[in-house]
Amino acid sequence: MQNKSVIGFIGAGNMAYALIKGLVNNGYGAENIKISDLDETLLSSRNSELGVATFTNNTALIAECDVVVLAVKPQVMGNVCKGLQGAIKSSHLFVSIAAGIRASDICRWLGGDYALVRTMPNTPALVQQGATGLFANDLASEDHKAIVTSVLSAIGDCFWVSEEKLIDAITAISGSGPAYFFLMMQSMTQAGMALGLDEETASALSVKTALGASVMAANSDDGPKQLRANVTSPNGTTQAAIESFQDQNFEGIVANATRAAFERAHELSIQLGDVD
Ligand SMILES: NC(=O)c1ccc[n+]([C@@H]2O[C@H](COP(=O)([O-])OP(=O)(O)OC[C@H]3O[C@@H](n4cnc5c(N)ncnc54)[C@H](OP(=O)(O)O)[C@@H]3O)[C@@H](O)[C@H]2O)c1
Repeated sequence: MQNKSVIGFIGAGNMAYALIKGLVNNGYGAENIKISDLDETLLSSRNSELGVATFTNNTALIAECDVVVLAVKPQVMGNVCKGLQGAIKSSHLFVSIAAGIRASDICRWLGGDYALVRTMPNTPALVQQGATGLFANDLASEDHKAIVTSVLSAIGDCFWVSEEKLIDAITAISGSGPAYFFLMMQSMTQAGMALGLDEETASALSVKTALGASVMAANSDDGPKQLRANVTSPNGTTQAAIESFQDQNFEGIVANATRAAFERAHELSIQLGDVD
């Protein structure tokens, strides 16, 4: 962890909280972290829990920071960025965690070409188990990328891509992905109830099985394909279920769903950026 950069968060909501908590827990000094928000009650609670300095004025915040994390909702990003114009130093590094906003739109709103990293975190970041996609614009150096990796590692694993359009693919896989697994758990709970289990037991079995399978996949040298083969005995119960899934084109269903998310991410980035 590079301890020298002072990091300022604009927006003190859920995601900034997860990031700051992870940073502080990883030993990043709270004196090097600052936040701004419109909500003074929220700022006060962040200050008492995390020990970070707080601001109600975004330009005052960035005057004291090297790295500026844009952690507001996509819908307000344009106005927040425009409000920073005049207070930006050429040495500033910007990091956007907003879903769907392209790097070029952020720079346009900031009023110039600045070093910028666009990221796509996902909700498990809130429990430090996130998967974050990252794209650096041409002005962001390898040192900048190392700083951003160290910051975003506070909420999970980082995956850099060299083309911005791949952020839409990341959105389709890991950004929206937690919901796919929640749907699977919900469906398995309902299926368990149809087979006679009570809801509490069916739900707990589904969630624990998803967690166990995920931990196994994350810790094994075998990929999911081999792990699945390992638990699929010929003519056994698992094979019966897998054949039923595949008879109904399970892989095709997943491919179509992720393609729909990818296309929607592309459409949304055009809509969100289409503001002067
Ligand atoms: N949560 C996730 O799992 C997740 C995953 C991927 C990406 N993201 C991205 O992360 C970003 C933040 O999400 P979040 O869930 O942390 O949102 P959030 O909880 O709503 O936090 C955003 C904060 O920014 C504040 N804010 C609004 N206008 C501001 C301004 N002009 N200056 C300073 N602060 C301002 C908001 O205050 P008010 O509430 O008063 O408006 C709010 O406290 C979003 O762009 C989202 O797309 C989130």
